[in-house]
Amino acid sequence: MKRKAQVNCLISLIALFFLFSYNLSCSAEKGSAEKGSAEKGSAEKGSAEKGSAEKVQQTGPYETLRDYIAALEARGKILRIKEVDQDKYEGTAFVYRMLDEKGVDTSPGLMFEKVKIDGEWRDNPMYANLYCGWETAAMVYGVEDITENQGEMYRATVKKLSSYVDEGGQWKKIKPVEVDKSKAPCKEVIIKGDDVDILKFPWFKNNPGDVGRYINTGAVFMEDPKMGRNVGTYRCQVKGKKKIGVNPEMGQHGWLFMLHAKRRGEKVKQVAIALGTDPIVYAMSSTKLADFGEDEMEFAGGFKGKPVELVKCETSDLLVPANAEMIIEGEVSMDVEDEGPYGEMYGYMGKQHKNFYMDIKAITHRKNPIFVNSFTGVTKTSHMIPWSASSFFKLKKLIPNMVDMYDPHEAIGLKVISIKKRFPGQGIAAGQIASGLPTGKIFIIVDDDVDVTNITEVLHAVSTRWQPHPASLIIPQAASFAIDPSMPQRMLTSKIIIDATRQLPPEGGPKKWSPVSRVLLEEKAPESFELVNEKWAEYWKNWEE
Ligand SMILES: Cc1cc2nc3c(=O)[nH]c(=O)nc-3n(C[C@H](O)[C@H](O)[C@H](O)COP(=O)(O)O)c2cc1C
Repeated sequence: MKRKAQVNCLISLIALFFLFSYNLSCSAEKGSAEKGSAEKGSAEKGSAEKGSAEKVQQTGPYETLRDYIAALEARGKILRIKEVDQDKYEGTAFVYRMLDEKGVDTSPGLMFEKVKIDGEWRDNPMYANLYCGWETAAMVYGVEDITENQGEMYRATVKKLSSYVDEGGQWKKIKPVEVDKSKAPCKEVIIKGDDVDILKFPWFKNNPGDVGRYINTGAVFMEDPKMGRNVGTYRCQVKGKKKIGVNPEMGQHGWLFMLHAKRRGEKVKQVAIALGTDPIVYAMSSTKLADFGEDEMEFAGGFKGKPVELVKCETSDLLVPANAEMIIEGEVSMDVEDEGPYGEMYGYMGKQHKNFYMDIKAITHRKNPIFVNSFTGVTKTSHMIPWSASSFFKLKKLIPNMVDMYDPHEAIGLKVISIKKRFPGQGIAAGQIASGLPTGKIFIIVDDDVDVTNITEVLHAVSTRWQPHPASLIIPQAASFAIDPSMPQRMLTSKIIIDATRQLPPEGGPKKWSPVSRVLLEEKAPESFELVNEKWAEYWKNWEE
């Protein structure tokens, strides 16, 4: 009976994979058939001419968010759209259509020049999808030769990241430094007391199901007498002129900091939220690279190769990034109140629950601040690749024959691992070791001839090399992140290992595996591909779009 349930579950999984693959290939076709439709409307492709091209830094690390955006524009990776009526959810619908047509990795970043919110047109530019293709991650972490080849850029970034690890296998760290307020762009405008009105800035309501507008890309800074500093990206529901929610989920480091303060009998906690920080500070704020009690800003310094510059807040002693676009300072109450619902990263509406809220004491910002919206659960949110690389480096020590690992954005919780398989049982064994990662639910193990970043190749391996029985293992219960909507209980999940490596005879596989047809063609008639490459432009010259 138990086995029957397992088999049913696996059959559903395969069906899902096929659907997923079908969608991907449809998207690719649509993208090429209707190329440039967005550009025909009120949209414009950003280009080097718009900024000062000669000053643009081709690769990172970038000092500010603006430097990163200038580099994206110079690469033609920012689509400018003059007006977006967000009261009609135009921005949200646009990103869905864009991703359907162009795919997650090849869609550009977006700049909405003017946005309508609560019946009012607002001029501050709102950016989105700034952490799109793998070449943009490569730029952030300083890969020298940037190309548009997604798999190549993913691997180049992981390779580059290995140079940020010290001899003991730890990420390099550099302590931040404090700078004078006069040197901090985030202090160009200072708003305090009765002048504070958070509502006047262009925060989006992404979906009619969201309870309201959200500040959803803020790095929340807190300090604790014992644990030091913590920085985490937690969404903040806009609740009033001087009031926002602050939403560290249960178990998050920020949540634990609040718990500690409550136990010490504190009524409120000083908190500051930094918006529009450089992409590395933002990435560190969004990942679990720093353990509880470690300072995310030291990790950011390690990746930047120099200390992060911090400046003192106006209303507390907290230190925040001097180069941020905006800082929101305030007191977070130990009381909790309703927060949400909000469309979460898994692409589902989360439930309303109790969480903290902040009484805003001051807002400081750069002149003409720019804003970034996260279309949570739709677009990629941050360049957290050091997190995946960290898992890869750790697993590599335990699985020496592991070759590559990939977490596709389109399927959170799915991890693909390739191995050089020599002996029976190594596929399942690799999956068992990897299944300790709390961010994974479905582990697909493939041979090293499969490109883990190419989902079509991965699905081909699953459909042709995997036998649900016996090449699978279900782990009935394991620790997990809290918001996967399929979990029967918060923070607990079951997991599955799909061994899609070629099964050896002792595992029930054939004595000899047939060659893959494409590989045979590449080996026996390499000139066929050369011929087609030479004539490629000619084949397409009369193609009408
Ligand atoms: C755009 C974005 C929004 C996020 N929103 C939340 C959130 O509302 N609550 C939460 O607990 N984690 C959220 N996360 C994930 C956390 O930022 C991430 O787990 C981080 O490691 C938390 O910091 P901590 O480890 O110091 O708690 C978000 C991440 C991103 C990129």
